[in-house]
Amino acid sequence: MNSQRTRLPAALLDRLALPVIAAPMFLVSGPALVEAACRAGIIGALPAANARSSEILDRWLTDLTAALARAREPQVGPWAVNLVAHRSNARLQDDLALCVRHRAPIVITALGGPQAIVEAVHGYGGLVFADVNTPEYAAKAARFGVDGLVLVCAGAGGHTGMIAAPAFVASVREFFDGMLVVAGAMSTGAAVRSAQILGADLVHMGTRFIATDESLAVPDYKQMIVDSASRDIVCTNAITGAWANKLRPSLARAGLDPDRLEVRRGGFDLTRGEDGGKAWKDLWSAGQGVGQIKAIEPVRTVVGRLRDEYAAALAAELTDPWMQRHRLGTC
Ligand SMILES: Cc1cc2nc3c(=O)[nH]c(=O)nc-3n(C[C@H](O)[C@H](O)[C@H](O)COP(=O)(O)O)c2cc1C
Repeated sequence: MNSQRTRLPAALLDRLALPVIAAPMFLVSGPALVEAACRAGIIGALPAANARSSEILDRWLTDLTAALARAREPQVGPWAVNLVAHRSNARLQDDLALCVRHRAPIVITALGGPQAIVEAVHGYGGLVFADVNTPEYAAKAARFGVDGLVLVCAGAGGHTGMIAAPAFVASVREFFDGMLVVAGAMSTGAAVRSAQILGADLVHMGTRFIATDESLAVPDYKQMIVDSASRDIVCTNAITGAWANKLRPSLARAGLDPDRLEVRRGGFDLTRGEDGGKAWKDLWSAGQGVGQIKAIEPVRTVVGRLRDEYAAALAAELTDPWMQRHRLGTC
């Protein structure tokens, strides 16, 4: 399959200044971050669960769509809602109904079969992306007819995958020709270009947007992001049973020894309910791309820098001696 052709539909491509999603993050992404991301020309996403009730989510989406309708920027990216598709999510039907009512341009599903969501969202012309962390889950989600897959690769913030992006993208491209989104340690414009070269269409950036003015993260969390590097990321399943990348200083601050965390057996049990409050409120998460974040800035500034870096990566390709030699057939 051709790894260079974008699979983004024209309606989506035209609205983007950069092929990036400000990824949904529990307790971090709220309406202000989404609005700023969309107005900067990327896709802004929030987890439905960040609104404490479906009524609050309804208000958020009403205000967000009104604000974006008033926006005057040349490119205003579409917004996305992240729904936990697992049956333990008691709000799923109500939140899905809100996505339909507000015609969410994109719904990103996590954990569980997205079939009912695909039918409802395709009913009004929206797109569905399923978040997956192995090629096997990717194959399952592809069978439900999703438009895109978010490949959560090694080094990602939040619940991480374990497979490196080049291997994950190549495996999934063997059976899926829809849109692919790469997640995991993507914090620069050059990383965005690298994901496209691998065969992806979009990049999911979480950690890059935690230390922004518009994020809901508390000030200490934002500062810890600025002060940390990849050596400060600890991959552990001790907190919830699911593997997640956490900031070492936040574990230490909570009284845990980051070098002596237990390895849990028996998988991830959503019904234990431990994945809410403390696991994310006090034990802060970030991906391995944390070292590229040097300041707390407005989303617009971050996206502006990503655009500059991306343009520089494209320009470098044109003058790269390897590019010249392959084009001229001299090697
Ligand atoms: C603090 C935090 C919370 C997250 N919460 C969610 C979530 O609620 N739903 C989800 O699908 N992904 C969640 N993620 C994963 C992100 O959507 C994204 O895939 C990931 O951050 C990409 O890796 P990066 O952080 O290295 O850029 C979370 C990530 C972080 C860092």
